[in-house]
Amino acid sequence: MDGTAIMSLQPIAARPAFARWLATTNDITRIFLSAGRIPGLINMAGGLPAAETYPVAELAAIAREVVAAHPQDVLGYGPIEGLPELRDTLAARFSSEALPLERANVLVISGGMQGLDLIGKVLLEDGGLIAGQFPTYLGALDAWRPRAPTFRNIMIEDAGFDAVAALTGAQFGYTVPNFSNPTGRLVGIETRQGLVDAAHSTGTWLVEDDPYGTLHYDGAPLPRLIDLSARARPGQPYDGPVIYMGTLSKEIAPGLRIGWVIAAPEMIAALTLAKQGSDLCTSGLTQRVALAALDAGLIETVQPLILATYRHRRDTLCAAMAEHLGDWLDWEVPVGGMFVWATARDAGLDTDLLLPHAMAAGVCVAPSSVFDASGLNRRAIRINFTLNEPETLAEGVRRLAQALMSMQARRG
Ligand SMILES: Cc1ncc(COP(=O)(O)O)c(C=O)c1O
Repeated sequence: MDGTAIMSLQPIAARPAFARWLATTNDITRIFLSAGRIPGLINMAGGLPAAETYPVAELAAIAREVVAAHPQDVLGYGPIEGLPELRDTLAARFSSEALPLERANVLVISGGMQGLDLIGKVLLEDGGLIAGQFPTYLGALDAWRPRAPTFRNIMIEDAGFDAVAALTGAQFGYTVPNFSNPTGRLVGIETRQGLVDAAHSTGTWLVEDDPYGTLHYDGAPLPRLIDLSARARPGQPYDGPVIYMGTLSKEIAPGLRIGWVIAAPEMIAALTLAKQGSDLCTSGLTQRVALAALDAGLIETVQPLILATYRHRRDTLCAAMAEHLGDWLDWEVPVGGMFVWATARDAGLDTDLLLPHAMAAGVCVAPSSVFDASGLNRRAIRINFTLNEPETLAEGVRRLAQALMSMQARRG
């Protein structure tokens, strides 16, 4: 010691910006995010893919090959916007006659979560208004919390939804139109068109977050908002109001951390500036792996296994729910995605209070409060059906029924 006084560190929680941020988080989130680490607990809370569907051997072979063939791309820093070849491949994949896309329309991101973060950095002012589909993806709430935004909860699944009123005055609109997280619902075609028209007529940016679009178990997919918003002008790349976000997390594997934004070149340039201050560039290794995987048609190769696995798990879960939970909860069987959203029949049932009973019974689900910026929506739960084997799902439902009974007994 040279005699220099050592001050105790300033407490982080006392920093006004951090304290304001922390005050809007929900303790319940921390509880259910830790569920995967508790031995014996059946985790139906997270939104995780089935690890059995990851194409391990194919990815291992691709990774070995790209490291040897493209050492500079894989091991060096790369362009902030992403590898040009990957951007071109993604532009071609999503292009159509009505939606002409160029490299300038595409930004490669480190998973869809980064897209949400960058959009917040670019579009959101402190306290700004977000018109967000309600209930709202927890990760989006988390990404935008540092700006302490105001949420206008838009009920886009309700009959009579007024898209112009919803978007007017907002800094951006946010929707997960395909098998939303958390509700698993599909936004109908008229509502999609209404949102897009409202984005044009009000001049509001509209974020289309689409990680689940290919997880379609029954019926046919609906057009993307970005396709509906295209107003093709000869020789011009897309310059409409939709900011489309996709990811390989549910189509191949989340550990790759590869996603993309497709939007007007002006928006891509702004998001690129934000990305520079965030991570400089997405991993060159996983970009090269993603490019080779896309070129080899790996998404199309694994899709039948993913769809068959998840369709069966959904059916098993819903059958077990019908057997054990029908007296307590109402739900719709989702036609795609990863979740069943179940609402308590008893308006007085508080699903935050159900959580400790569920954990004691050995199962975890996500309570609705975490999908509401105000935390007040406490009557529903989100149940994931993709992660666990069918028999585990059925056992999880039996445990949930026990938890509901134990909670009821406590309430008297
Ligand atoms: C609606 C939604 N958006 C974005 C993400 C982020 O996905 P990733 O960062 O893995 O691409 C998820 C993940 O579950 C999600 O459900």
